[in-house]
Amino acid sequence: MEKLLQQIEEYKQEIAAFTASSADDVENFRIKWLGTKGLVKAIMGEMKNVPNDQKKSFGQILNAFKSVAEVKLEELQAAYAGAAASHGAALDFSLPGDPVTVGSRHPLTLVRNEMVAIFKRLGFAVAEGPEIEDDWHNFGAMNLPEDHPARDMQDTFYIRKPEEGNGPTWLLRTHTSSVQARVMEHQKPPIRVICPGRVYRNETISARAHCFFHQVEGLYIDENVSFADLKQTLYFFVQEMFGKEVKVRFRPSYFPFTEPSAEMDISCQICAGKGCNICKHTGWVEILGSGMVHPKVLENFGIDANKYTGFAFGMGVERITQLKYQVNDLRLYSQNDIRFLKQFTGVV
Ligand code: DAH
Repeated sequence: MEKLLQQIEEYKQEIAAFTASSADDVENFRIKWLGTKGLVKAIMGEMKNVPNDQKKSFGQILNAFKSVAEVKLEELQAAYAGAAASHGAALDFSLPGDPVTVGSRHPLTLVRNEMVAIFKRLGFAVAEGPEIEDDWHNFGAMNLPEDHPARDMQDTFYIRKPEEGNGPTWLLRTHTSSVQARVMEHQKPPIRVICPGRVYRNETISARAHCFFHQVEGLYIDENVSFADLKQTLYFFVQEMFGKEVKVRFRPSYFPFTEPSAEMDISCQICAGKGCNICKHTGWVEILGSGMVHPKVLENFGIDANKYTGFAFGMGVERITQLKYQVNDLRLYSQNDIRFLKQFTGVV
């Protein structure tokens, strides 16, 4: 009995003197003293050898001893909680947190979204179509019959040419005008859509050309739509995009799907019209093609060209982004260089 009490006293001192320097030490403490095969249990087991008349007082001594071990463990665990999982050091809530890396939207996405938002304010709906197209929607319906020389202007990636077996020609769309065709196929006037999307051309990749890029195309068909509507719509667009000071000019041009056709230039946003590499020292940058929808295109879709007129336009998202953010190499858009992309963090 005497020996047991002395033993308990020694244990208590050992517990009091214990210090931990890691979460592992804490766990070892728990196992040694309070584990299922621990010393507290072992001492408790001595109870059966204690004479009956002393059981009560001895029980109190044992319980007190047990709680000394438990309190100590709680203290140790509180000091090392959480640290066990991370660094094995005490938790310090004043330390800075782990930084969270914030992603950014791609500049082309930012600009496309802005373009879409501007045209939505004018009542345009968004239409999309497939990137793998047939000859009819990409060329035929847009008044570019086979052997039309303008087909050469758009170096097409063919997936299957007619001479490669029977069946339709498949290609990667060279412009989003193919989506105009799909809209006119299913919808009767009034039509007011924009078609954003990726297009493909077989070009050697350089700072100024790429084998894929993005367009936003527009189509507006109704009664009494005039060239003045076209001009005002596009003028509104560039003012919203680049600010009220932007100047525009229209030059006559040619597209098989519009008559008359025009290209639109804006005053160079890089040098404010003074002359730089981007505008080739002219002060003007071409940003889009446009025109009044050719009656043949309307008729291809059973739209009465005597009753309805329309305008259409198409522009490159890369070009608008270049002017907006001064990106001078088209390859940057698809290289996914984090130093380029992170410059757009926080831009929405
Ligand atoms: N499809 C032309 C191109 O890719 C751009 C274009 C010009 C689209 C005139 C049009 C348009 O809708 O009317 O170069």
